[in-house]
Amino acid sequence: MVKICCIGAGYVGGPTMAVIALKCPFIEVTVVDISVSRIDAWNSEQLPIYEPGLEDVVKQCRGKNLFFSCDVEKHVGEADIVFVSVNTPTKTQGLGAGKAADLTYWESAARMIADVSKSDKIVVEKSTVPVKTAEAIEKILTHNSDGINFQILSNPEFLAEGTAIQDLLTPNRVLIGGRETPEGIKAIEKLKNVYANWVPVESILCTNLWSAELSKLAANAFLAQRISSVNAISALCEATGADISEVSHSVGTDTRIGPKFLNASVGFGGSCFQKDILNLVYICECNGLPEVANYWKHIIRINDYQKSRFVNRVVSSMFNTASGKKIAILGFAFKKDTGDTRETPAIDVCKGLLGEKANLSIYDPQVSADHIERDLSTEKFDWDHPAHLQPMSPTAIKQVRVEWDAYEATKDAHGLCFLTEWDEFKKLDFQRIYNDMQRPSFVFDGRNIVDAVKLRRIGFIVYSVGKPL
Ligand code: NAD
Ligand code: UGA
Repeated sequence: MVKICCIGAGYVGGPTMAVIALKCPFIEVTVVDISVSRIDAWNSEQLPIYEPGLEDVVKQCRGKNLFFSCDVEKHVGEADIVFVSVNTPTKTQGLGAGKAADLTYWESAARMIADVSKSDKIVVEKSTVPVKTAEAIEKILTHNSDGINFQILSNPEFLAEGTAIQDLLTPNRVLIGGRETPEGIKAIEKLKNVYANWVPVESILCTNLWSAELSKLAANAFLAQRISSVNAISALCEATGADISEVSHSVGTDTRIGPKFLNASVGFGGSCFQKDILNLVYICECNGLPEVANYWKHIIRINDYQKSRFVNRVVSSMFNTASGKKIAILGFAFKKDTGDTRETPAIDVCKGLLGEKANLSIYDPQVSADHIERDLSTEKFDWDHPAHLQPMSPTAIKQVRVEWDAYEATKDAHGLCFLTEWDEFKKLDFQRIYNDMQRPSFVFDGRNIVDAVKLRRIGFIVYSVGKPL
C-alpha cells in the first residue's frame, strides 16, 4: 500500500487529503500537524474548518485510510510521498518585510523530513511558495541525509474556500512540476497516477518545477487583478451613473474575457491573494524588474482604496459623522460558506468605522465572537509601511458587540453594512429590520446582494457598490 503523509492540517492539507483518501481507498493517507488542538478537532465531530461537503468526505474515510496525527516524525518517516502544506505567510520583520513569503515553517518541515527519512521519498510542495523554492528545499534535503533520494515536485493547489470539496473533486486542472531528469519524470508519473484515479489525464498538466511554482502565483495575481479591475470601474460607475452589474455583464459576455470573477465588492480578502501578489512583487524586485513589481502592487493598492472608499461612503452618507451611531455589520468572513476571516475586508472596514467612533454590532453565521474580537483587537500590519504597526485604540473594542442573529444586530441601528454575501442575508425580512432601525435607515451593500429598488420602496436609503444612488 502506498503511504502518503501531509504536513499541515489546515484549509488545504485537510480537505485535499480527505479527497485523495476518498478517491484512492488503496492509499493510506495521514495528515500531521504540530498543532494538537487542530489534530484533535480533525479527529472529533467538530472539524476545525467549515467547508460544505467536507464533513461527509471525512466521515467516509476517517479511521479507514485517512488518519490525523501529531506524531509527525513517525508518519513522515513511513511515507512514500510527503506533501508539505504548511502556511507561508508574508514576512512581517527583517529582509523583505511586508512582501516576501516567510518560509520558516517550510524550512523546518524540510529539515524534519531530512532528519527522519530512512527511505527514498517524493516531497511535494503543496503550499504556495516563491518560484525557485524547490531549489532551496533540495539543498536542505540532500545536505542533511546520506544516500536517500528525494524528488521534489511542485503541485500547487487551486481550490477556493467555500467550494473546496467541489474544486477538489472536479478540478479545472491539476498541475505537477518536476525535474526534467529520468528520476524527476518518474516522480511526476507517480503523483500523476494518484490524481488519475479521478481526474481525467488530459486535465493533469506536467511542467518543469519553476513553471509550476510561478503558475500558482500568476493564477492568483490574475484572479485578483480581475477583481481590482472591476472594483476600479465600480468607482467610475458611481461617479457617472453607470451600473457595474450592467458593465460587468456587457464586458464578460465577450468570450475572450468571460463572465466569472467580475463581481464588484467591498474588496477581496482571504489569506492568499494579497500575500501571493506581494510575494510576486518581491520576486520581481529581487530580479531587477521594478516596473513589473509596481504593476502588480497596484492591484493591492486598488483593493485598499476600495475598502477605504466604502468606509468613507458610510461616514459621508451619514452626515459626515458616525460617532456614537450604531452600525450593524452583517458578514465578517472573507466570503460566504467559510468561517475564515484571514485578511477579510470586514476587518479594515470595521476598524475604519471604529476610528470614526461608531458602535458596531456584528453578525456572521460562521464566525464566533472570540474570533471577531481577536481580529479587531490585533494591530494591523501595513504591507506598504511594514515598520509601522497601526495601533488599535484600547477603547475601540468596547464599541463592538457580536450578535448571533441579524435582527438583533440591526435593532436600533442607524446603518447596516453587508460585508459578506451569505445566502441567508438575501432572505431577511427587510420590513421588520426597517421597523426596528433608526431613521433615516441606511443600507450599505458591499456585495450587491440586496434588491435596492425593493429596499428603497420600504424606506431605506441604499448605497450599493458601483450602482447609481
Ligand atoms: P493553514 O494555516 O490553515 O494550515 C497550515 C498548517 O500547517 C497549520 O495547521 C500549522 O500548524 C501547520 N504547520 C506549520 N508548520 C508545521 C510543521 N513544521 N510541521 C507540522 N505542521 C506545521 O494554511 P492553509 O490555508 O491550509 O494554507 C497552506 C498553504 O496552501 C499556504 O501556502 C497557502 O498559500 C496555500 N493555499 C491555500 C489555499 C486556501 O484556500 N487556504 C488555497 C490554495 C493554496
Ligand atoms: C483563491 C483562488 O480563487 C483559488 O483558486 C486559490 O487556490 C486560493 O485563492 C488560494 O491560493 O488561496 P479563495 O481566496 O479561497 O481562493 O476565494 P475566492 O473565491 O478566490 O475569493 C477571494 C476574494 O475575492 C473573496 O473575498 C471574494 O469575496 C472576492 N471576490 C471574488 C470578489 O470580490 N469578486 C469576485 O468576482 C470574486
